[in-house]
Amino acid sequence: MTRLVVISNRVAPVDEGQTNVGGLAVAVQAALEKTGGIWFGWSGEKTRRRQHSPNLTERDRLTFATVDFTERDLREYYEGFSNGALWPLLHYRLDLAQFNRRDYLGYMRVNDWLARTVARLLEPDDLIWIHDYHLFTAARTLRRLGVRNRIGFFLHTPFPPRELFVALPWHAELLEALSACDLIGFQTEADLAAFHDCLQADDDFEMLEDGTVRAFGRTVRAAAFPIGLDAGNVRKLAVRHNRSRTLRRLKNTLGGRRMIISVDRLDYSKGLADRFRSYAMLLDVYKELDGKVTLMQVAPPSRTNVHGYSEIRTELENLAGSINGRFADFDWAPLRYLNRSFSRDILSCFYRAADVGLVTPLRDGMNLVAKEYVAAQDPENPGVLVLSKFAGAAAQMTDALLVNPYDHDEVANTLYRALRLPLSERRRRWQKLMDGLIANDVHRWQQDFVDVLAGSGDPKSGSFGS
Ligand code: UDP
Ligand code: G6P
Repeated sequence: MTRLVVISNRVAPVDEGQTNVGGLAVAVQAALEKTGGIWFGWSGEKTRRRQHSPNLTERDRLTFATVDFTERDLREYYEGFSNGALWPLLHYRLDLAQFNRRDYLGYMRVNDWLARTVARLLEPDDLIWIHDYHLFTAARTLRRLGVRNRIGFFLHTPFPPRELFVALPWHAELLEALSACDLIGFQTEADLAAFHDCLQADDDFEMLEDGTVRAFGRTVRAAAFPIGLDAGNVRKLAVRHNRSRTLRRLKNTLGGRRMIISVDRLDYSKGLADRFRSYAMLLDVYKELDGKVTLMQVAPPSRTNVHGYSEIRTELENLAGSINGRFADFDWAPLRYLNRSFSRDILSCFYRAADVGLVTPLRDGMNLVAKEYVAAQDPENPGVLVLSKFAGAAAQMTDALLVNPYDHDEVANTLYRALRLPLSERRRRWQKLMDGLIANDVHRWQQDFVDVLAGSGDPKSGSFGS
């Protein structure tokens, strides 16, 4: 069987039992557990000296090949260009993007080095699958080194409209580098369309009859492959923890109150400040909820050295303080704001205990939390998903209650509706959502992508799992 070599900046913790916070690592781990292969990327550690070969750790059929980064790599490539320029740009936040030539050169340097390091591990039949915006230029280096294997790339984030993307001074260079791949995957049809629109600026651009495009002197296929979950596993975790001590403790502290749950990395793209304002509006307008509802927001800190992240943390602390200050009573805090991470086992039992899953990013590639919330529900008495229209997940999860996260009135009213939705409607909506999760799980996502990359998938359909 052909070996799969996955390359991503973030790799799941090599030591078992540690928490993955971030959709890429969660999904790739679930996918690779079944097929095995090599997973190459950052160890999460810092080093003083440049490493020339990766540390190898075997776990079942999967080999983790990891490298440490220097202080400079982290500053220029990870914090600077990847998360200070590309992340905000890809999430439509030009106002937060900081474009800096030194960081861009650092990004190219680290992409080159990672490509050179992984190239030494490659065998002629390997399928290479590169993930996410940290590694837009790695495929080009691999080609320059003479690598002829099939190379795929999957973008976990949104792809923004051309008018925004061209604000990046090096946008054409990045597109050219990316066209060194054979297959480029996106989360949604809208992301795919925006990407095609950007490619059209190249003089050489041509849409070919078999669905591939010609650009920058190469032929490349691009398609949407919405990422999924190992839904069965999330359901198992939630059932297993149904009698756990954690769940008992949680229920004791809720004292019969309704619970709304939100789980996000502490990131400005997740819309936490707007969500808190919407929740305050709910409490303000629907006085009968006084003392009867709790919003539990799990928000582990993320990318703390990057511009924009410490500001959002301060803003949220102020908002959380003012909501509890204004509405709390001696025996009730309406908002539990937790700046820490939890394992997915514990999260799945939190999801199952919650009447509403509130997922309101301002922009998100997919959002796995929305899918996990649904997969963890009790089929007899499922909770309701309130989901932002601007999450990639909304394109598939149309049986959720969809909202505009900027519209606080709408979110407050929809929350109220969700808390009162009759059991028959909750069951009907949940069943449809769950059917979709099972039909389009993470294994299908991987299989569809790998089949098209290997040349055996249906190349004309151009769209998967919708
Ligand atoms: N997650 C977790 N513990 C936490 C917070 C998040 O395990 O305390 C996981 C969560 O279950 C989900 C992933 O991190 O699988 C977040 O993925 P998502 O696509 O929602 O957002 P991302 O962080 O990738 O932008
Ligand atoms: C998003 C990105 C991933 C990233 C994750 C966590 O899901 O698409 O590439 O790994 O966030 O962010 P971090 O910077 O901690 O890897």
